[in-house]
Amino acid sequence: MSESEPTPSDADHNATEQTDQTTEQAVEVPEPEEEETQVTSSGPADQVVEVAEEVDKSSNVVEPKDGGPKVVIITGANTGIGLVAAEMLAKDDYEVIMACRSEDKANQAVSEVQKKVPGAKVSFMKLDLNSLKSVRDFSDAYHATEKPLHVLCNNAGLTTGFSTKDRLETEDGFEMTFGVNHLGHFLLTHLLLDVMKKTAETCDEVRIVNTSSMLHDPEGPGGNRGRAAHLDFDNLMMDKPDTFDGMLAYRNSKLANCAFSVELAKRLKGSKITSNTLCPGFIPATGLGRNETQWAKIRMAVITPLLKLIGITRTVEHGGGMVHYVVTSPDWKGLTGKHSTDFKITDSSTESRDPEVGKKLWDMSADLVQYEAAKTL
Ligand SMILES: NC(=O)c1ccc[n+]([C@@H]2O[C@H](COP(=O)([O-])OP(=O)(O)OC[C@H]3O[C@@H](n4cnc5c(N)ncnc54)[C@H](OP(=O)(O)O)[C@@H]3O)[C@@H](O)[C@H]2O)c1
Repeated sequence: MSESEPTPSDADHNATEQTDQTTEQAVEVPEPEEEETQVTSSGPADQVVEVAEEVDKSSNVVEPKDGGPKVVIITGANTGIGLVAAEMLAKDDYEVIMACRSEDKANQAVSEVQKKVPGAKVSFMKLDLNSLKSVRDFSDAYHATEKPLHVLCNNAGLTTGFSTKDRLETEDGFEMTFGVNHLGHFLLTHLLLDVMKKTAETCDEVRIVNTSSMLHDPEGPGGNRGRAAHLDFDNLMMDKPDTFDGMLAYRNSKLANCAFSVELAKRLKGSKITSNTLCPGFIPATGLGRNETQWAKIRMAVITPLLKLIGITRTVEHGGGMVHYVVTSPDWKGLTGKHSTDFKITDSSTESRDPEVGKKLWDMSADLVQYEAAKTL
């Protein structure tokens, strides 16, 4: 990775509380990275939404039939997992649009990819998920380019600090973790659906790939310690007195990513657009933990080598590779509403696949971002 890559002290789980959780989680994470790709779906059959049962998995399905460029938008592509994914996809001849909030950081990232991948078609477009206006401006600007869109990677994400109790808000007054990680991407996806539908007429499949986290699942590694993810529709913004918790806000936002993806998959059935989620793995070497307290960062820096030794952590290349895998692999052809972890195909949590949860989140999100059209999809 780049010289500017965040150090392990900026790790994902570097909250004081989470450090303890991660230590305990160590015994629960089944195995280190596997090279092999397997299909291990074991979820209830009625929850698995498939576009087609018999599919030809021999080719890259998003390949445009007219031989034009394959275009991918990656949110949060200036660093971490998104940057690695951008490099990998540029190598595969995708035209990569880095949708980022900081022009300076994004331009540096563009240069970095161009240096590593000579001839890479990569560019920056401004997107700040903290602001619904910015999301709408991005969509307008993208429509103006008249480019197709073969893949949308909703990858950007933040935590305001796992161990903090300081509740922050977006420009539109949403709790920031939920607003950026879920609501911003909810609106972005809807605003770009027309372009994706049009593009689907020119290729076998268009893919929406959402970066979630294993922490969305109370039954998964790390998800069963402390306050487990759960969408409380009476307090989605965690603004009731004494309810805000940075870790819980993050877990819930990642649960919302999965519930949205599953519901979207259902609603897009038959459209040649698929929607899936992935967990990139626990990767201390990204900037996700940047808002942690100093103390939490120190604790995480101390514990990271141990976690690495026992195979709990994953590399940024693994995380970027996970995005690349769900975007490009023929294994995913015709699959929608599914989840991936460690290069396997699986299901997201039980709650994320509950149809009532999916519908309620959908309707409430449409109201919050003031996009009524979503309700008729
Ligand atoms: N690292 C892990 O252990 C881990 C585990 C599970 C899931 N994930 C998920 O992986 C995804 C990528 O995270 P990462 O680990 O690569 O962390 P990262 O290095 O901090 O990257 C996060 C990216 O999201 C961008 N972002 C944050 N707020 C934004 C906003 N308001 N508008 C637009 N972009 C924004 C950041 O931009 P700036 O650089 O400008 O802030 C950055 O490009 C996230 O969805 C995260 O939840 C990570």
